[in-house]
Amino acid sequence: MKGNFFQPGALWLDDAGIPINAHGGGILLHGGVYYWFGEHKVGGEPGNSAQVGVRVYSSEDLVHWSNKGIALQVSGDANHDLARGCILERPKVIYNARTRQFVMWFHLELLGQGYGAARSGVAVADCVTGPYRYLSSFRPNAGVWPKNAAAGECGALDAGEQRLIAEWLPNADEMRDCYPGNIFCRDFAGGQMARDMTLFVDDDQTAYQVYASEENGTLHISQLSEDYLRPAGNYVRIFPGRFNEAPALFKTKSGDYYLITSDCTGWSPNPARLSHAKSIWGPWEELGNPCRGSREEVATTFWSQSTYVLPLAGDRFIYLGDRWNPMDAIDGRYVWLPIEFENGLPVLRWREKWSLEQL
Ligand code: DGJ
Repeated sequence: MKGNFFQPGALWLDDAGIPINAHGGGILLHGGVYYWFGEHKVGGEPGNSAQVGVRVYSSEDLVHWSNKGIALQVSGDANHDLARGCILERPKVIYNARTRQFVMWFHLELLGQGYGAARSGVAVADCVTGPYRYLSSFRPNAGVWPKNAAAGECGALDAGEQRLIAEWLPNADEMRDCYPGNIFCRDFAGGQMARDMTLFVDDDQTAYQVYASEENGTLHISQLSEDYLRPAGNYVRIFPGRFNEAPALFKTKSGDYYLITSDCTGWSPNPARLSHAKSIWGPWEELGNPCRGSREEVATTFWSQSTYVLPLAGDRFIYLGDRWNPMDAIDGRYVWLPIEFENGLPVLRWREKWSLEQL
């Protein structure tokens, strides 16, 4: 970036002239400084798994960034949860004022298991840039029924019901129309699957994790414990069978919650989806695609997939997306766009170049 402009999709260099390497990221504002945490990717296809860890940058103006190193490192021990070559995606960091700890959550897939483990990992640090100490990983909300499920929907599955889900799985992409609504029952005892995720801290400092669950078919919004280290045991399922991923949650001063998500199409872009609720627990309503522009821009979210929405003072928001490059992961680009409000609702438009003053 030259000058004080954002140039969505362009090569974005840090203050040492090296391309910023923080994919699937999120931003924490702490002590007047912004910290950008994201997946450090290496070149080629090996970059699609975690070879290094989570990198962090700092900035005071959101345009110029300094590399602050690796906040959370993968392990050289092949038996470690964070073994080099595992999949560690979409790290997000929040600050807990009560414990004075920085808490990182991320999507973790154990080495050699593809995307089958579907776990959430948690790490903590006393200093914002780390090093972060890995605590544990798990499937959230084991033994807890969703608070918005009717009693009749909840109950252990019998062998026949489990077999139906197992038969559906290999054809999941083609069979969205017959999505089994009871996968959360299958996973009740062991915990709910958790893939793409984000964190959100509400005005009252209650924190939430939003994650793609139930074979990616359903999103869960799950409250965190007061120390932000575990699920509090309070969650809802939203949009069952809609296959949302890449969740990014934000709230306006009017108390409206908005969620930007994508469809599930691997590394390829697809149309973004906007939804709204008056309470974080719902009901959530889909409002359609927030993108405005050419047919291709609208169909591909400007060749990006959401990862975070950064709130700024004055009820202003920036959309952060990734333009993935799975053949050369390190060359994935960042698409940051201002969120505009049109008829009271958030919309995104392409900008070749823009600055905070235009927000
Ligand atoms: C889409 C997700 O949003 C990404 O984080 C990543 O998991 C890819 N799928 C993998 O195909």
